[in-house]
Amino acid sequence: MVMASRTDLKYPASSRFLHWVVAVMVIATMPVGVIMQQQGLARPTQDLLFILHKNGGVIILLLVVLRILWRLATPAPALPSSVPAWQAKVAKTVQVALYTLLVIMAVSGYVRVRAGGFPVEMLDAIGMPALVPRSEALAEQAKSIHATARFPLVTLIVLHVAAALKHLVARDGVFGHIWPPLGR
Ligand code: HEM
Ligand code: HEM
Repeated sequence: MVMASRTDLKYPASSRFLHWVVAVMVIATMPVGVIMQQQGLARPTQDLLFILHKNGGVIILLLVVLRILWRLATPAPALPSSVPAWQAKVAKTVQVALYTLLVIMAVSGYVRVRAGGFPVEMLDAIGMPALVPRSEALAEQAKSIHATARFPLVTLIVLHVAAALKHLVARDGVFGHIWPPLGR
């Protein structure tokens, strides 16, 4: 992925808005993914959590793909000179890895559900075909990718948020690149 930079003070409002919508949805969907599988949940609660997780995950995928395309077309604001080159490199690597892992999570979840023969209610309602063959072996493979990829994803989110908070405390302007989500 080519990631150029420019000297503007912020990401465009659209990018800031997408960043925070995706961040909130991802942080909410992970505990839902775990809780919905717990024994002893009432059936209607469990069904609701599955519906929220599967359909929310598809929306996350669409927003992340949009964000990646938009990001390739509109380069990031440049980091201040107080940020050492190695930190800038690590930050970019973590950001690219975050995008990649979100796509892996959402696609593996989708394949797991479709190959397993289960519905994705929102897409079924608009008549979208499954796109994935029905196969227990494929469903199992996608399930194990989905279950494993959450560990690097959580690790990178923690690193990313810790770095963002460090910039917030240092008041070096980097946090302002992405905040507030709306406005000029
Ligand atoms: C699941 C949660 C999150 C994900 C997946 C995520 C992902 C990303 C990505 C991919 C970028 C790079 C934007 C780009 O250049 O395309 C970014 C930028 C940024 N994020 Fe997050 N983020 C999350 C949560 C947060 C949180 C909670 C904070 C603050 C506490 C935060 C603060 C920032 C800041 C300050 C930047 C701008 C960095 C810069 O200008 O280089 N992010 N985020
Ligand atoms: C970025 C988006 C997503 C994230 C961060 C995410 C995260 C998670 C997490 C943390 C779990 C618990 C893992 C476990 O206990 O093994 C989980 C389970 C699950 N997720 Fe997702 N998920 C996402 C998207 C999706 C999508 C799009 C679907 C389906 C359309 C989906 C379907 C499932 C299912 C069915 C489970 C239960 C475990 C299984 O039977 O495979 N997820 N998800």
